[in-house]
Amino acid sequence: METITSTSLDLPLQHKGKVRDTYVLDERLLMIATDRLSAFDVVFKEGIPRKGEVLNQLSAFWFEKTKKIIKNHFLSLELPISNKLPRFLRGRSMVVEKCTPLPLECVVRGHITGSAWREYQKKGSVCGIQLPAGLHDGSELPSPIFTPSTKAEKGHDENIDEKKARSLVGDETFETVRQKSIELYDFADAYARGRGLVLADTKFEFGLDKERQVMLIDEALTPDSSRYWLEEKYDVGILESLDKQYVRNYVESTGWNKSPPPPPLPAEIVSKTTERYLQAFMMLTGKKL
Ligand SMILES: Nc1ncnc2c1ncn2[C@@H]1O[C@H](COP(=O)(O)OP(=O)(O)OP(=O)(O)O)[C@@H](O)[C@H]1O
Ligand SMILES: [Mg+2]
Repeated sequence: METITSTSLDLPLQHKGKVRDTYVLDERLLMIATDRLSAFDVVFKEGIPRKGEVLNQLSAFWFEKTKKIIKNHFLSLELPISNKLPRFLRGRSMVVEKCTPLPLECVVRGHITGSAWREYQKKGSVCGIQLPAGLHDGSELPSPIFTPSTKAEKGHDENIDEKKARSLVGDETFETVRQKSIELYDFADAYARGRGLVLADTKFEFGLDKERQVMLIDEALTPDSSRYWLEEKYDVGILESLDKQYVRNYVESTGWNKSPPPPPLPAEIVSKTTERYLQAFMMLTGKKL
């Protein structure tokens, strides 16, 4: 199956991230979700068929659903016709409002797993937040916690405590993004549960618009930025992920040291990743992609 892993448009390039390529359209941006996959901050050679479309269309779905909680950057899934853009962009790109991103990755966790689970095992706390004893991998937390990290230009994002996060964005903005992140998480988790999924954790990004109002940007509640578990498996103690965790688990099992170059992904891992992303899309939206 065909994948798009790079783009080269006749437009000024704003940013080439690990997964998305963003171009400038006057006051707006064209964000293209490619089929690239990154894990542990390394981009893999193989593309994942349909992944870009899932990320793009699921983000659009959530932006629409959550706009009553907070304004977001989403403008349209339609390609601007005046620019004669290639057809392969359809379905995998969106026009968004350009803004100034805040230097904070706003992570919310309703369950403890991944890096937070490792931190908890060592310290009993996560990002300076003390947690009850006796939790296990996947445990639901008494209430969702806000565990921001830095947005590293190169290398790995670092978990930071509240004091450091406040110093990066200021007290008022910190309060806003913390409250809105938790509100967004609560809304999305309740919605996902109604559709057979548990939203274990997720990451939001915010920016400031021209009036310096905080708005939700980047991607929202996708299987790249979130952990989704099948609820029926979760209820019997199994963490079955419909997200990037599936690939993380595979590459960790190969003994890879997490520095480039990445190990090759076998065809079966690639196709099962596509299946999981499509399943998450279908369960959440009730539609086929
Ligand atoms: N509305 C917006 N205006 C300006 N920048 C945005 C907007 N929405 C998202 N961004 C930025 O665009 C980039 C998207 O890149 P992508 O997610 O592909 O890669 P990334 O791996 O997260 O980026 P990086 O490698 O720079 O961290 C992020 O740096 C994000 O902060
Ligand atoms: Mg990103």
